[in-house]
Amino acid sequence: TPRIFSGIQPSGGLTLGNYLGALKRFAALQGGKAETIYCIVDLHAITVWQEPEILRQRIREGAAAFMASGVDPAQSILFNQSQVPAHAELAWLFNTVARVGWMYRMTQFKDKAGKNSENASLGLLAYPALMAADILVYQATAVPVGEDQKQHLELTRDIAAKFNHDYGVQHFPMTEPLIEGAATRVMSLRDGAKKMSKSDPSDASRINLTDDADAIAQKIRKARTDADPLPGSAEGLKDRPEARNLVNIFAALSDQTPDQVLTRFEGQGFGAFKPALAELAVETLSPITRRMGEFMADPDEIDRILGQGAERAEAVATPILDRTKEIMGLLRSR
Ligand code: TYM
Repeated sequence: TPRIFSGIQPSGGLTLGNYLGALKRFAALQGGKAETIYCIVDLHAITVWQEPEILRQRIREGAAAFMASGVDPAQSILFNQSQVPAHAELAWLFNTVARVGWMYRMTQFKDKAGKNSENASLGLLAYPALMAADILVYQATAVPVGEDQKQHLELTRDIAAKFNHDYGVQHFPMTEPLIEGAATRVMSLRDGAKKMSKSDPSDASRINLTDDADAIAQKIRKARTDADPLPGSAEGLKDRPEARNLVNIFAALSDQTPDQVLTRFEGQGFGAFKPALAELAVETLSPITRRMGEFMADPDEIDRILGQGAERAEAVATPILDRTKEIMGLLRSR
């Protein structure tokens, strides 16, 4: 059976990049023929230091963001990772399958560990093995993500293939990445060569899901652009990364292709385009921000939903984990 899995780290303010690259698409994938399982990956978050009380709050915020974006806990399984021990258990098994060299090659590790990588947590290095476990503990067949997770998904397939080969089984599927749409890589509003990210020191570089209408409009007004009018098709944006980014954002927010957006704005400058984009962004994000606030007003209800989701997730994961251990020759006598 087709099964979709994806996760988001609860490591602070979610951005328009997370919404367009992930959350919006998670909601859209519900109700199809695939089962949808969505996870707040708190065990991944703690690979860098997290203040315990703040982390707890951000896990709830993550859940609120999923639901405010349209993920329905009745249609999807929604839970936080640490409540389903099978993730960490399979991650250990994968630590014995994956090679150290594979981990050192990951660009996210290099970025996050920085120059002094000897001082990074061991968990930060092993991060992709846990991510592979998240996916494969459900034998998920497809994973919707933004472009930046592509390398991790390739590694997930490498782990699945090596496991299947080493043990001579067809146990884990070759999971397909779903990197689709106009906004698979939303860029910084200040620098068209950098990804929009919650860790950028400049708040003006990103739109946060908690920004109010004024902040959104102001950030878009001040976004870096060039002085040329917009071309008639996406082809003409090849060497204009900032302009391309804004057009892609417009396209993703309005469920159009960049070409369709440009048909409307051809020949116009950013003086006309930016206000239209700001209006669209506010119109789309304001209800999400408001719903997030409503969910956050009832943390007990969020905890209850995550607990129920974890129970359902565990029911899917446990037989797959048990079978994995059996394949590996781990003795079970009860
Ligand atoms: P994370 O928490 O950094 O990001 C969550 C999702 O948002 C996407 N995303 C973006 N998409 C477009 N433009 C951007 N600027 C942008 N920034 C972030 C990410 O691609 C991602 O889809 N390792 C993962 C979390 C994870 C996971 C998993 C994902 C753990 N286990 C299993 C899928 C399956 C991460 O750090 O995502």
